[in-house]
Amino acid sequence: MKKFNFVAISGSLRESSYNTMALRAAQKLAPKNISIEQLSIAEVPFYDQDLYADTFPQAVDKLAEAIKASDAVIIVTPEYNYSIPGVLKNAIDFLSRSPRKPFDMKAVGIMGASPGMLGSARAQYHLRQVMVYLNAYVMNRPEIMIPQVNSKFNESGDLLDNRTAEQILKFLDSLAEFSAKMNGPSDH
Ligand SMILES: Cc1cc2nc3c(=O)[nH]c(=O)nc-3n(C[C@H](O)[C@H](O)[C@H](O)COP(=O)(O)O)c2cc1C
Repeated sequence: MKKFNFVAISGSLRESSYNTMALRAAQKLAPKNISIEQLSIAEVPFYDQDLYADTFPQAVDKLAEAIKASDAVIIVTPEYNYSIPGVLKNAIDFLSRSPRKPFDMKAVGIMGASPGMLGSARAQYHLRQVMVYLNAYVMNRPEIMIPQVNSKFNESGDLLDNRTAEQILKFLDSLAEFSAKMNGPSDH
């Protein structure tokens, strides 16, 4: 059975983030042939072309390298004011200036959660738009929008909702299949 190495980014920096809980739920639910390494964007500085035109911060370069080497990237985004959080946009903007071009032709799966009814849907569609410019291959379906997320995890971050668990599992299998198609045959 082919093995897949995914990396995953949470667009929230806070300790008790529901989106990070969803990311960790995906890690726990992943079948044996899929590994998911969490990458943090906490060390990414504010992008300033004057400072970083030639020299890349090591934290950003390491992120770019890990994304480049992965079979697919999962981005789990909160919704802030109907869009993606600034910290996530800043990290993507920074990564987009990396000569490694980490998102170019990279399989991407988008997830997100919100205490509201739409489960970060509006932010996810903004993220899809950003990914067009980076020439990423974003999986269309299944979508993972987790509404009323505050009722779906306990305080320890365990996922309590079976339907969401089933959706995440299906999402992971679909992303594996999708990334295999996007990356082409690898065994010859
Ligand atoms: C600045 C800000 C803007 C927000 N805007 C939205 C919004 O547009 N839609 C929404 O569903 N929730 C919105 N929220 C609520 C977030 O969905 C909620 O705080 C969520 O828990 C953030 O994700 P996290 O738990 O992963 O940190 C907003 C929260 C903040 C702090």
